[in-house]
Amino acid sequence: MFGKKKIVPQIDKDQLELIQNAQKRIKQKKRLYIHFVIFLIGAVFLILANTVLKIGEKFKPFDIDWFVFAILIWLFFLIYHIFNVFITHKFMGKAWEQEQLEKLVAKQKIKIEKLKTELKREMPHIAKSEIYNESLNPERKSELTIIVAAAENDAIGKGNKLIWHLSDDLKRFKNLTNGHHIIMGRKTFESFPKPLPNRTHIVITRQADYKVPEGVIVVNSLEAAIDVTKNELQPFVIGGGEIYKQALAIADKIELTRIHENFEADTFFPKIDTTIWKETANTFHKKDEKHDYEFSFLTYERK
Ligand SMILES: NC(=O)c1ccc[n+]([C@@H]2O[C@H](COP(=O)([O-])OP(=O)(O)OC[C@H]3O[C@@H](n4cnc5c(N)ncnc54)[C@H](OP(=O)(O)O)[C@@H]3O)[C@@H](O)[C@H]2O)c1
Repeated sequence: MFGKKKIVPQIDKDQLELIQNAQKRIKQKKRLYIHFVIFLIGAVFLILANTVLKIGEKFKPFDIDWFVFAILIWLFFLIYHIFNVFITHKFMGKAWEQEQLEKLVAKQKIKIEKLKTELKREMPHIAKSEIYNESLNPERKSELTIIVAAAENDAIGKGNKLIWHLSDDLKRFKNLTNGHHIIMGRKTFESFPKPLPNRTHIVITRQADYKVPEGVIVVNSLEAAIDVTKNELQPFVIGGGEIYKQALAIADKIELTRIHENFEADTFFPKIDTTIWKETANTFHKKDEKHDYEFSFLTYERK
């Protein structure tokens, strides 16, 4: 307990690396200095060996004393050593470190920008998952809602197309279903040019290998579709005729746009039984330059 405590260096990894680099640099310069001193002594020794001690006196390539060549060759190695210490290693010195740091910072900035764009793209999904988490609260009940536009004679479609174009009705559809699961029959799904943005599509079909774009969920019954949406507060059944018929028996709410007109059609919405359904909202919309027919937004809730 009272023994000598081991000293742990209070230096972080980067600082330690810098110190080690500085030590390495000092050693390199020291070695160069020793080389230079030895070269000076060696050069004097070579000159004396040839001129005073007469060693190899007669060896004179190109009529020049041999010590001149010996010193020049050594000088070449010394210059090479100097070059190594002051040029090659200098690239890895302070300036080099700074350069690397700047590169790293630039890379990080690009990464941050990328993350920012990804985050913007993910925001709708995050919002959706918040709705999902809220729905995990057992106190909150999921409300299966039928959304439909039907004429006075209950006509809803012809030749796998809608019969009318009412821009305020499309806006209401968009606002109500935005961010939710939308359940539909295969034929209704095929009536869209492409999946609607910011909604999770669930397509019901009996076909075993029905191909859909990425993100679209395929199921083989209405029950399976509802099962997929069990954690969502308000899944919508958006058609068409076959699916409405089956969903009407289990839905909690109907958001109906009643077009005050009769139309020829091949697909119809079932009659709304007012002994089961209670009208809770009704807003009339008159004909105008954008809307060829009068219509009303009606909400029905199961009694
Ligand atoms: N006015 C509106 O609000 C509105 C809304 C939506 C659609 N519509 C209109 O409605 C028409 C389409 O309705 P629709 O009745 O012809 O077709 P649908 O209900 O959209 O789709 C029918 C298909 O769904 C699949 N299906 C139905 N019940 C199933 C079950 N129990 N199990 C498994 N798969 C099942 C089958 O697909 P497979 O054949 O692949 O097995 C069936 O052919 C179009 O004209 C469209 O424009 C109108």
